[in-house]
Amino acid sequence: MTTVIRNGTIVTADLTYKADVLIEHGRIAAIGQGLTGDTTLDATGCLVMPGGIDPHTHLEMPFMGTYSADDFDSGTRAALAGGTTMVVDFALPSPGQGLLDALQMWDNKSGRAHCDYSFHMAVTWWDRQVFDEMQAVVDRGITSFKHFMAYKGALMVNDDELFSSFRRVGDLGGVALVHAENGDVVAELSARLLAEGNTGPEAHAYSRPPQVEGEATNRAIMVADMAGVPLYVVHVSCEDSHEAIRRARSQGKRVWGEPLIQHLTLDESEYFNPDWDHAARRVMSPPFRDKRHQDSLWAGLQSGSLSVVATDHCAFTTAQKRNGIGDFTKIPNGTGGLEDRMPMLWTHGVATGRLTPNEFVAVTSTNIAKILGMYPRKGAVLVGSDADLVVWDPEAEKTIAAGSQQSAIDYNVFEGQRVKGLPRYVLTRGHVAVDGGTLDSREGHGEFVAREPRGTVNRALSAWKELTAPRPVERSGIPASGV
Ligand code: URP
Ligand code: ZN
Ligand code: ZN
Ligand code: ZN
Repeated sequence: MTTVIRNGTIVTADLTYKADVLIEHGRIAAIGQGLTGDTTLDATGCLVMPGGIDPHTHLEMPFMGTYSADDFDSGTRAALAGGTTMVVDFALPSPGQGLLDALQMWDNKSGRAHCDYSFHMAVTWWDRQVFDEMQAVVDRGITSFKHFMAYKGALMVNDDELFSSFRRVGDLGGVALVHAENGDVVAELSARLLAEGNTGPEAHAYSRPPQVEGEATNRAIMVADMAGVPLYVVHVSCEDSHEAIRRARSQGKRVWGEPLIQHLTLDESEYFNPDWDHAARRVMSPPFRDKRHQDSLWAGLQSGSLSVVATDHCAFTTAQKRNGIGDFTKIPNGTGGLEDRMPMLWTHGVATGRLTPNEFVAVTSTNIAKILGMYPRKGAVLVGSDADLVVWDPEAEKTIAAGSQQSAIDYNVFEGQRVKGLPRYVLTRGHVAVDGGTLDSREGHGEFVAREPRGTVNRALSAWKELTAPRPVERSGIPASGV
């Protein structure tokens, strides 16, 4: 069986042109004019783009005394409904748990995925076992390792652990990821706020000012530079962190920054809403910022100093959020966004003229496929690439509503937002999972995507490290000692 997408305009990270796309055995078999197939999808008036890749999700994750509510079933349905055809989730060992043990847990959960997926591995503690198992993790095709500089007493690693792990990741040819917030300062500020009677969700924002993020981002960049490893900073929310990334990139350091669609479009006023539930539902780390920071993030996407737009999809129900009534530090941190990332970014990015359609493709798909070592299998419209495609209708509109979403939670942080630009068709390895507003996806269709270590950036960095490694100075005539 072959499928052809006819009469559309192909938009990739660097090209825009009219052509049909022929799909066979889940891959792109031909791109050209007048192609025919067993099934025809009409893309008149639409753009044919690589499906979105969301490199930052937490599906069914044990966290803050509960589990995130969307699992690989509802989470990947949400992804497909919004034009995202691949997610990269975080395998998260609890402190003391082996990496391979955690990986087994994530393997078990991910069997329900409706679209393809990969994993990052989190390093939440450090000893010889972790060091050793990192090799086996890379051999499994997981080449990116996440480190939390926040969540003191739980997931946080200290600077010595960070440096050791970064060096190991560098030697294995991987990419280091960081959640960059100064966890010690957050813990101090939180305790003080609670003692002063600041118990509501707004105190979550007070406890994590932009400086907390800027300091940690800069520290992670410097540690990564000393360790000789490429660094990817997740959920960059503010100018303070963006500034550190911008400066590092201008110095030639291999650093990428990832803003979230939530930080690009929602601001800190959400936390001052008199409705406790409204504010608590938006508690995530880092918190939403004032508009000045939003402008910085958009400028970063425009200028290229920020590279990827993700969601950090980590959804909790209102009932789960209410664990934190009377103590904001117990509100589970996280928000949803998987179904809304692409339409929200198109509406607020492309339709406003902040981003070109090609830049949209770059930051939602192609850049991360390259960073994580899976391009051009993913993130491309090329012969031989997986047929993970979205046929995008720039004129289609809807109002975002929790009542019609795939996510399992009972609200949506974008509730009531009008979006223009929606998928007409979404294909996951050739299977048409979305047709108009209808989802026809299959539990278990998703496959694990193994990734290659030692990409071009790693190889360049290794060559430079070797060239500039410390070497003893050759000397003649060393003076006799003790004279
Ligand atoms: O608040 C957030 N971001 N929750 C998910 C875990 C993390 O820090 O990424
Ligand atoms: Zn995080
Ligand atoms: Zn996260
Ligand atoms: Zn079907």
